[in-house]
Parts: sequence; C-alpha cells; structure tokens
Amino acid sequence: MPLKPMKTILVIHGPNLNLLGRREPEIYGADTLDAINTELVQAGKQLGVEVETYQSNHEGDLVDRIQQAADLADGLVINPAAYTHTSVALRDALQMLDIPVIEVHLSNIYRRASFRHHSMTAPATTGQITGLGKNGYLLAIEALVGMAADAP
Ligand code: DQA
Repeated sequence: MPLKPMKTILVIHGPNLNLLGRREPEIYGADTLDAINTELVQAGKQLGVEVETYQSNHEGDLVDRIQQAADLADGLVINPAAYTHTSVALRDALQMLDIPVIEVHLSNIYRRASFRHHSMTAPATTGQITGLGKNGYLLAIEALVGMAADAP
C-alpha cells in the first residue's frame, strides 16, 4: 500500500478505557485517558503530526470512526479493548482501510487470561504493540511517522 505523508494520526480507544486511572491501575496504569491523550497530542506536535483522539464504549460508534479515518487520517492507532477479542465488525472496518494501523494494548494480552490471547482485530492491522503501558501509544505514533518518512 503506498503511504500518504503522515499529517494526521487518529488514536481510537475502545470500551472502558474512559475509566483509565480508576480501572485496575495495577494492570492499566495510574494515568487517566485525558492525561494520556494530552501526551499523545504533545508528542505529535514534536513529530510534526496532528494527533486526534476518540473514545467510545459502543461498537457501532467505533466502526463509524474507523470508516471516517479512511478520509480524515493518514495513520490509525487503535486499542479496541475488549472488542479486540470479539469484534468481527471492527476487524471488517479495519480491513477496509488503506492507511497503516497499529493495534495497542496497555497490558500484555498474552500474559493474561487465555480469552485475551486471541485478537480478532490484529490480522487487519499493520502491527501490534502490547504490554508497554501508555508508551505503546507513543511508540505507535513514532512508528507511523517513521514508516511514512521511510516510504519510497
Ligand atoms: C486492553 C486489553 C483487553 O483485553 C481489555 O479488555 C481492555 C484493555 C489493554 O489495553 O490492555 O479493555 O486492550
């Protein structure tokens, strides 16, 4: 897939991630989603890219936003949260995108309960970062910018 210049990156957070900071902080960390999003926007500025963020607890809303990413973004970072493990609808939406997509998980899904080991969505993405906490999002943004810079 020919890469577009990386001007806008959309970061999508799935269900229950609005409760970060309060939700099992020993697994997901102490930072709130707002604090993480602020860091991502700042990191984007330093890398010369606009970072937009979106969170929803609703599968259909996430599908709508992924579909919109095709026109609005040059790269996508997504933590589909629990829908990672179940959602054919999210996978189908991701599959239709012609921009690079990185799936991020705060926790290492492969060290957790076996039902979390399978990602329905990962086969429709460019790559996956799991278990690095909020740094996973920062690395994903850097990777997208790097990929576009390296593109022929
Ligand atoms: C998660 C891992 C999922 O298994 C879980 O349902 C989440 C968060 C993570 O970021 O580690 O909600 O995607």
